[in-house]
Amino acid sequence: LDRRARLAILLSGRGSNFAAIADAVDAGRIPDAEIVAVVSDNVGAPGLEFARERGLPVFSLASSKRTELERELRKVLAGCRPDLICLAGFMRILSPELVAEYRGRILNIHPSLLPKFRGLHPQRRALEAGETESGCTVHYVDEGVDSGESLLQRRVPILPGDTEESLSARILEKEHEAYPEAVRIALSRLK
Ligand code: GRF
Repeated sequence: LDRRARLAILLSGRGSNFAAIADAVDAGRIPDAEIVAVVSDNVGAPGLEFARERGLPVFSLASSKRTELERELRKVLAGCRPDLICLAGFMRILSPELVAEYRGRILNIHPSLLPKFRGLHPQRRALEAGETESGCTVHYVDEGVDSGESLLQRRVPILPGDTEESLSARILEKEHEAYPEAVRIALSRLK
């Protein structure tokens, strides 16, 4: 790219991974990039508030029907022309059409060592399965759920006495390192 790379962040909640990416952009750890949109399907998402505080462009999707929400999302994305879309706790599944339009340019982060424990509550399921380690995966998004090509993983041990909360917190720390690093790698591949 002969200009700064344009990042769009999609989130539904807390937004700590978004904050980690925004910090990395500000600190130059994701060089030559800017966040051009922070988009949410949840108008009350704390992550949107962080985005406003940082002076970033915020878009909240208002539709309740899936097809209309997706139409809104596509309009927002068409308007901001992202080079890379980062799903950061975005609790919707993108349509195959949207995935096709941005193929190779959508990332997601999932708190398990994919392909293990796709879908909801992966930390709890890792504990229930008696795993001795877990972690997080940043992957390219395809038409499936948590199923695209893996870009980067970080591992953590599962310790005796771990609860869903303690394990989630240990993984989340790694997520905040992994996602900015993965964004940097994905952008370098676009160049
Ligand atoms: C993270 O655990 C992420 O892996 C998962 O959803 C959670 C989002 O957390 N996809 P946050 O909103 O980034 O704090």
